Amino acid sequence: MIEDRVISPELIYEDEETDERVDETTLRPQTFSEYIGQDKVKENLKVYIEAAKDRGEALDHVLLYGPPGLGKTTLATIISNEMSSNIKITSGPAIEKAGDLAAILTNLQENDILFIDEIHRLSRAVEEILYPALEDFSLDIVIGKGPSAKSIRLDLPKFTLVGATTKAGSLSSPLRDRFGIIHRLELYTPEELAKIIQRSAGILGVKIDKEAALEIGSRCRGTPRIANRLLKRVRDFAQVEKKEVIDYEIAKKALDRLEIDEIGLDNTDRIMLNTIIEKFNGGPVGLETLAASIGEDKDTIEDVYEPYLMQIGFLSRGPRGRMVTGLAYNHLNIEYPNKK
Ligand SMILES: Nc1ncnc2c1ncn2[C@@H]1O[C@H](COP(=O)(O)OP(=O)(O)OP(=O)(O)O)[C@@H](O)[C@H]1O
Ligand SMILES: [Mg+2]
Repeated sequence: MIEDRVISPELIYEDEETDERVDETTLRPQTFSEYIGQDKVKENLKVYIEAAKDRGEALDHVLLYGPPGLGKTTLATIISNEMSSNIKITSGPAIEKAGDLAAILTNLQENDILFIDEIHRLSRAVEEILYPALEDFSLDIVIGKGPSAKSIRLDLPKFTLVGATTKAGSLSSPLRDRFGIIHRLELYTPEELAKIIQRSAGILGVKIDKEAALEIGSRCRGTPRIANRLLKRVRDFAQVEKKEVIDYEIAKKALDRLEIDEIGLDNTDRIMLNTIIEKFNGGPVGLETLAASIGEDKDTIEDVYEPYLMQIGFLSRGPRGRMVTGLAYNHLNIEYPNKK
């Protein structure tokens, strides 16, 4: 299951020992100059931030979307640092009632950043409160009940909402339309990941050579969070083998032991590809059917497995479902059938 995978892009924090949140904070870039890759997003945001600062106004609302572990939360904190404003962090599921959001909004100060993670999980009632807040910086609250109830309108400080989601498609369109700035984060290249790994190694106080960083960078599914996790596992191997510097040899050995192949696939990926090939003749197969046959959650397949398999051209998605490509057959050493 995905939870046990060393290559899961989701944050792991079941117990103290595996709590990644501590490391994530120390490894998290604080400024644009430390934030590697995502050049287009970065360049655009820099312009918008500079312009907003020049005008002395709050930045327009920002929506960031893309697979887990690519740096959405990190970008939100960088935006607040670069704007020299405070950031209040919450998430869609944490805001249960309309009143919860009202309390958050009335506690904001001028130019503050409100970061809502998993924004696609806001309830309808909460969303309704958010619309006027985003558009007119006002809050409509109803006081009392029945015929004597009256609605009053409160002014809110001009704030910036930064919303993050792995599922832009699940966002209601009225909510999506209220973001002036919308950016999709892309999977990182192995070279970018190698830089991230070298930066993290510096912070963790471990030495790693370029080749080793690139090797880890090639096997972490385009995802910085996985890169940092693999770096820590490789460090353990190096330490036990009393290596002062992590080199290609020890990196490769450690990654092989973790059963992550040269291109970052693990057993679960291989099971999924093999299932499509063996049970569905390579596809197309619908998401639901596929999920049922490998006993995995539909969302997990969409958010976690597919982005990377599609990025490396192993899987294609058409109107009739998922198909395994010739490249994947090759990688798995299975003969590609001649399809009509
Ligand atoms: N561009 C980057 N440069 C350097 N490190 C990065 C970058 N992006 C992410 N990281 C590292 O990866 C970790 C995970 O990033 P982050 O928590 O921002 O991802 P996320 O997109 O918010 O994930 P989730 O969808 O799970 O909330 C960060 O702690 C940081 O160390
Ligand atoms: Mg996050």
